[in-house]
This record gives sequence, structure tokens and C-alpha cells, in this order.
Amino acid sequence: MVQLTIRRQDGNTIWYETFDVEEKPGMTVLEALFQIQEKQDGSLCFRYSCRGAVCGSCAMLINRKPVLACRTQLSAVKSEVILESEKEEILLKHSSKDESKEDVLVEPLPNLRVIRDLIVDMDHFYRLVNSIEPWIHVSEKTGYEENIIEPSMQIQIEKYTNCILCATCHGNCPAAARDDKYLGPAALAKVWRFCLDPRSRREDVDKLTSQVNSKEGVWGCDVVYKCVAVCPKKVPPTTAILKMRENTKSKSD
Ligand code: FES
Repeated sequence: MVQLTIRRQDGNTIWYETFDVEEKPGMTVLEALFQIQEKQDGSLCFRYSCRGAVCGSCAMLINRKPVLACRTQLSAVKSEVILESEKEEILLKHSSKDESKEDVLVEPLPNLRVIRDLIVDMDHFYRLVNSIEPWIHVSEKTGYEENIIEPSMQIQIEKYTNCILCATCHGNCPAAARDDKYLGPAALAKVWRFCLDPRSRREDVDKLTSQVNSKEGVWGCDVVYKCVAVCPKKVPPTTAILKMRENTKSKSD
């Protein structure tokens, strides 16, 4: 048996609740949540879709780390050590936990409003990403003709296009935590991806570059690589941010 201690929320009421889960070989945290929902508490709310680390909807905090629940195995996290101070904080809130059992702490993604239990409101995150107009503006001349790019360039862009918009980066970002106007790692990584893309129009690249040349953009980042550390698709937003900072500086010199 593994214990899952889950942060629950209904309106303004927040509480921690512990459930015993019968562990099966290869079981993921998402599967453990299903077991709880099916056998113990049908009111437990969480979000998922693909169950295969593709859609990004099951992002949550597991042992205080933002991860995808569908690709996190219980066996990998059940004996992880959470800081003693954090454990105490949770024990104070919830006294029926059995300290003799291996346990996993599950909480919603930070820096986004909680709708219920583990479900967060993604609107704010999507608004930030949409604000940079994350698509290629095709000039009228191009029409429906193919607009092919070199494979080498494709490889450079690929590490940014792998983003699945799960918001784990946003949930781990100290700048996003203190400033809700900060564009955040996902949006900024996309900006760099469109700057690199030879199919982007020059005027669009210039517009994007000046849009992010602010403290809500590339200058708001703490450069602590916390987004890079948690991205399940290995997108490196901090690298993109530093490249854009360099470009901005060299233009103004
Ligand atoms: S359910 Fe789609 S990424 Fe986890």
C-alpha cells in the first residue's frame, strides 16, 4: 500500500486528505488517482486526456515538483524525501496520516487559480501564450505554396516546438509567482522559436522582439533554470531568453 496525501479544495475550503492505494507494477500517479476516484472518493477532481505525456493536461505537483502525473510512476516517487519543514506543515494540516507507510504528496500546479482539487484554471497561462500570437504570419504572396525550411534549421526549432503547453514551467517559475504580467517561460520560448524560423516575416520578428524587451518579457526572468529542470519535453526556455537578451543588447550597442 502507498499513501497519497492530496490537497483538496472546494471553493475557499482547503484541506489535505490521505488515501491508501493498492500499488500495481508500473502504476503511475494518474492511475493511482483513478483508483481513488473509482473506489474511495468519486468527488476527487483532476484533469487528464491522453494518458501518454502528449496532451499536457495532467500537470500537477508531486512531492512539490511540477510533473505530468501520467508519466510519473508511483515507485519512483513513493520513497522520495520531502523537506522536513514541508512535511510538518502538511502534518499539521492533516493528522490522520500513517507515518509508517510510504507516501506521496499530490497538489495542484502553483501560480494558477485552483478550480477544484487538482484542477487549475489554465486561462491565464493560455492568455500569456496567445499574447505573442504563436503562429507564422504568412505573407499574401506565399499563398498556399510550400514554404520549406532546411532540416538543420528544423532541428534547431524542434527543441522549442516540442512544448505541449502543460504549464509545468509556469508552475515552477519564481518570476511568474510574483508577477502575473510576466509572459513566462512557455511564451518566451515560443517567441524565440518564431524568431529562429526563416518562414517568419522580418516585421513580425521585430514586433515580437520589441514586445518581449521589457521586465514582463525577457528581463523579468531570474535565470535560475527552474523551467528547464521540470519541462517533460526538454524545452529550454532559459536558453531562449538568454539568446533574446543577447540579441537585444547587441542591437542597442
Ligand atoms: S494525460 Fe496527457 S499528458 Fe498526461
